[in-house]
Amino acid sequence: MTTIEVLTAHVPDHVPVDLVWNHSLNEFAHELDDPYIAASRLHDGPGIIWAREACLGKPGWVLTRHALIQEAFLDYEHFSSTRGSTTSAVLGPVVRLIPVEVDPPEHHAYRHLLNPHFTPRTVNELELSVRQLCDSLIAKFESRRSCEFTSQFGQIFPNSIFLTLMGMPQAMLPQFLKWEEMMLRGGNHANHLAAAAAVLQYLQGFAAEQRANPQTSLMKGIVSGSIEGRPLTDDEIVGTCFLLYLGGLDTVYSSLGWIMRHLAGDQALQQRLRDNPKDIPLAVEEFARAFAVAAPQRRVAKDFNFHGVSMHKDDVVLLPTYLASRDPQAYENPHVVDIDRHARNITFATGPHTCLGVHLAKREIRIVLEAFLSRFKNIRIPDGEAYAYHTGGVLGVDRLPLVWD
Ligand code: HEM
Repeated sequence: MTTIEVLTAHVPDHVPVDLVWNHSLNEFAHELDDPYIAASRLHDGPGIIWAREACLGKPGWVLTRHALIQEAFLDYEHFSSTRGSTTSAVLGPVVRLIPVEVDPPEHHAYRHLLNPHFTPRTVNELELSVRQLCDSLIAKFESRRSCEFTSQFGQIFPNSIFLTLMGMPQAMLPQFLKWEEMMLRGGNHANHLAAAAAVLQYLQGFAAEQRANPQTSLMKGIVSGSIEGRPLTDDEIVGTCFLLYLGGLDTVYSSLGWIMRHLAGDQALQQRLRDNPKDIPLAVEEFARAFAVAAPQRRVAKDFNFHGVSMHKDDVVLLPTYLASRDPQAYENPHVVDIDRHARNITFATGPHTCLGVHLAKREIRIVLEAFLSRFKNIRIPDGEAYAYHTGGVLGVDRLPLVWD
């Protein structure tokens, strides 16, 4: 194969040459110390590009503008969430991730079943146990005046909340942490698949037990709920549990990692929030905007023209919320964290698939900020130490050493 053929092998005929971007988005976003600034260099180019590697090493469209990403989230008739035949199916052909891989109108019934378990009111009921968990994790390193935030707090916190939500024994925590580690940082694709298969198998057994004896109101709602007059099948229950697992883990710990990394370099903001804890909810909103972590994927449902670009059925389309959040056309000085900005964001998506766990996630972040800031002064990254991060479907912090006074 000649060089030119190699460079264009990923480009289907319907893609105009001037929109071809011969890069991997993940590698590009990893070129600087800050992936948000690195990725945002794409804002100097077109709003729609065809990347050599959009996600999971595969080529596809990447939307770079807030307005376009928002439009795609809303337009489920053209941008489908269903798995295409070419999408790698970790869960096999039968188990779907519910409701994130289901398009409206079918999607509506699943959301109707789950929504009551994720309202601000139900989050209020969880608040005490989330706070206790947060305090107990901090107690383990508090007196040392230092921690490695990701491994000692960030990863354990959402995993443990997941177990509580589902009514799984806390004794499963080490196992879930191991699975998560393999899925996110397992190194190769075979490890990711093996971990996903192990979680799937565990959830199959768990779902069968819960049918007979549900442990929490969420599980009771899932196993006794109905979709169009019939109970959920075993595969639907497993697919729902799997998504609740995936949805709330690396998103939460990654967001927390970026937020703590920012705070560690912004003593003035730390002090403002310490002195005025009532401003913490404002900070949670602005942190959500500035540190969007997810890049949801869509599949073109039918040939159509999107803002002058011809898209074909089954093309992959990536909607990086971290590009939407740092788009200078949507936000003035997008890289500046300003908690008085009062700006809306699409970090939790918009439209039918708006994050089910948004209220829980924001509450978790608020609780963590309150707990760290009320206890520790001058939180910072120790001199000579560095943080480490990965890019991919979610931008995540792998290592964040912190010290405080
Ligand atoms: C900071 C943390 C979080 C972020 C940034 C986040 C982000 C997102 C985004 C962008 C989507 C849309 C996906 C798509 O359109 O394909 C989504 C959907 C979803 N999220 Fe979250 N999420 C977070 C936390 C959580 C938590 C804690 C849970 C559950 C306990 C959760 C459960 C879900 C579910 C079930 C969906 C699918 C909703 C649907 O398809 O109707 N998320 N999330």
